[in-house]
Amino acid sequence: MIFKQLFDTKSSTYTYLISSGKGREALIIDPVIENVGEYINLLEELDLRLVKVIDTHIHADHVTGASKLKDITKCTTIMGNHTPTDAVELKVKDNEIVKIDKLSIRAIYTPGHTSDSFSFLMDKYLFSGDTLLINGTGRTDFQNGNAKDAYNSIFNKLLKLPDETLLYPAHDYKGEKVSTIGKEKKFNPRLQVKSVDEYIDIMSNLNLEKPKALEFNVKSNLKLGSI
Ligand code: FE2
Repeated sequence: MIFKQLFDTKSSTYTYLISSGKGREALIIDPVIENVGEYINLLEELDLRLVKVIDTHIHADHVTGASKLKDITKCTTIMGNHTPTDAVELKVKDNEIVKIDKLSIRAIYTPGHTSDSFSFLMDKYLFSGDTLLINGTGRTDFQNGNAKDAYNSIFNKLLKLPDETLLYPAHDYKGEKVSTIGKEKKFNPRLQVKSVDEYIDIMSNLNLEKPKALEFNVKSNLKLGSI
């Protein structure tokens, strides 16, 4: 299998390129528009044919490269079925399987960071978007975010996966690249709560600044980055 974790320094976004092998089909998760040239070069270098591109949710901090990749490669654009836009070609439901070659990726609806957030599980690789981060969790204070939903998605869905599941989030701000569900259960400070109310309380008091260009990014991402 080919697995590449790519990093956008401006937004601290991780983008993932996955394929079953050289000369075969490929999938990209959470592309950033400014880095599309880099992805195309990498696809050519590895002799891969991009067939699918997934956005885990409507991002607020960067513009997706999905439309641009589709224009260049004719790949299919995919998001979860709670994203309020017709720009997406294939909207997947909770538990639906996305296939490329021999690889199967299961969509898991994990609302909370945003109301449209999905995570994607391929064998023991979990692409958690901004639902579960390394030593953190996605903020819940805009885009219909909801701390109670986030708690449910994290505790009743993602943390029920086996401890050895590899956690690959959409962002990291401290240079961490990968974790496991087991490590996060033990050490993630946001997860050391005793009740949903305690979690809601933490999330209600983060007092974070809004991302720069939030309105533009969301508007553009609802068109998959084509404006
Ligand atoms: Fe996000």
